[in-house]
Amino acid sequence: EAAASEAQSRYKFEELTAGNDETHHVAEGYDAQVLLRWGDPVLADAPDFDVMNQTAAAQLTQFGYNNDYVGFVPLNEAGTRGLLCVNHEYTNEEVMFPGLGRQDKAGFEGMTAELIDIEMAAHGGTVVEIAQDDAGKWAVVQDGKMNRRVTPLNTAMMLSGPAAGHKRMKTNDDPAGMNVIGTINNCAGGMTPWGTWLMAEENFHGYFWTDVLDADGKPDLSAHDDAVQKKRYGVPGRWYAWGKFHDRYNIDKEPNMPNKFGWVVEVDPMDPTSTPIKHTALGRFRHEGAETTVSTDGKLVVYMGDDNRFDYQYKYVSNGSVSEDRAANAGLLSDGTLYVARFDEDGSVTWMPLVHGTGPLTAENGFNDQGDVLIDTRLAADLLGATPMDRPEDAQPRGDGTAYIMLTNNNKRKETNAANPRSKSDFGHIIEIKEDGADHAATRGTWSILVKCGDPSISEVGAQWNPETSENGWFGSPDNCAMDADGRLWVSTDQGSKWGKTGKSDGLYAVETEGTARGTSKLFFRCPVGGEMCGPYFTDDGETLFLAVQHPGTDGTKDLKGFERASTFEDPATRWPDFDPKMPPRPSVVVVTKKGGGKIAV
Ligand code: FEO
Ligand code: CA
Ligand code: CA
Ligand code: CA
Repeated sequence: EAAASEAQSRYKFEELTAGNDETHHVAEGYDAQVLLRWGDPVLADAPDFDVMNQTAAAQLTQFGYNNDYVGFVPLNEAGTRGLLCVNHEYTNEEVMFPGLGRQDKAGFEGMTAELIDIEMAAHGGTVVEIAQDDAGKWAVVQDGKMNRRVTPLNTAMMLSGPAAGHKRMKTNDDPAGMNVIGTINNCAGGMTPWGTWLMAEENFHGYFWTDVLDADGKPDLSAHDDAVQKKRYGVPGRWYAWGKFHDRYNIDKEPNMPNKFGWVVEVDPMDPTSTPIKHTALGRFRHEGAETTVSTDGKLVVYMGDDNRFDYQYKYVSNGSVSEDRAANAGLLSDGTLYVARFDEDGSVTWMPLVHGTGPLTAENGFNDQGDVLIDTRLAADLLGATPMDRPEDAQPRGDGTAYIMLTNNNKRKETNAANPRSKSDFGHIIEIKEDGADHAATRGTWSILVKCGDPSISEVGAQWNPETSENGWFGSPDNCAMDADGRLWVSTDQGSKWGKTGKSDGLYAVETEGTARGTSKLFFRCPVGGEMCGPYFTDDGETLFLAVQHPGTDGTKDLKGFERASTFEDPATRWPDFDPKMPPRPSVVVVTKKGGGKIAV
């Protein structure tokens, strides 16, 4: 019987044994090569990485920290040369810098102005040319003409769309409200059909600082006339001490600056001198990702989650159509409609437009124009009655009108709804949407739950998998996801510090959506301890898979059996991938290919 069902799963590989140790593992018959590590040279003039003598100037030329989204733009017909586009979401000071020890979130007391500039230079993104040799091995082309670092330290960006130039975007360095320096906390993302790269700004609130605190030591926003909006977004989070040294991250000095973050940023990887654009038409929230597709009549559609407990699922539909003429697509992300999802008990999903002047989105309710609707997307969506979700992470459309929504977990949920059916959901679930008429621009569709995650052998967990899923194949906390060349779904996990609850490291899973094997999952790749699985990205021929191992050696290394220490630079839980006693763990991009070549999992 097992053999018969195996034949129905379209993913052909021998699944890994689940577990958790100091290194990575890939399914038998595949090579997993470390391609790019934090600190590796990216620009032609980059110095070799010197972990004991880091500088911001060097980091600005080297690969950044905590690689998350990975995209690829082929530069030749065969796809053996191309540009890798990688987000660097955040930094882990305790394992980046010697002598800091374990820092508590608020302020990182040991952080100096110099260390902060280094970590700012380690944020943002990287564009780097890579090439595959005749033996199938990928390598970085260090003198690639398009190689580029994008950072919050010094990359100038433009604002576009209805909120550009809005009075709430005006800051001391930009009285017109049209520009901003830098991008932060770029989590997942996407590539557009015309080959530009979308970087989603996620937990931007954590970077803003204030010295004005109330009696409990919490931010006191009473001097801010937009205190309600700031609170709804968690601004200022005071996770990082940047605002102590850079006024633009200090809301006491620049109260409007948080309004310039929380957007989707478009970068043209083909032009290293191009100015990245923050597209306000796609809304302001904790953008997890921005995966694109095209509707039946040629409109660009972008699916986007707001990763916060009880926040919402969004999509954007352009007014114009995607053109073969690359330059003609420049306006598609500035002119369109943003929708938020309501998932009803009857299995229907309704996409509600966030348009000023319609329904409750009026001046009476604090929305004076479309700029207000977009800057305060969350408040607008609250008024429309969107469905509060279990932390919407990545969302992946497929060209046939289907989309998959990763709901990672929500341990604060008490009241359930049909689309978020578990109270205190520790392990999350995946929703499948089928848009009406197989059209991604449709404003209605149907939804169903593909899987409820967690261990199916523990009844209290309430998991729901196809029973053919093995004890190695189930997972918790879906986060990033991707389609391969054959339209098959792959899901990567981020259990955070909770991986001890499953005993499994984070990893990459092949999740079947079709046929009798629908709802099965198979483990393909395992992260080293404390690492989160990001990427994934398949090349168009399905023969190369890019994965990103984020923050190896950190999450859950405190108080968990087997790794009973909080990782520090001096004493990390793993030194992956170098295993050099002088080198801390390094977030790295891993490239997976089949031994002897050919499509992955076929
Ligand atoms: Fe950066 Fe929502 O994961
Ligand atoms: Ca994520
Ligand atoms: Ca993705
Ligand atoms: Ca996550």
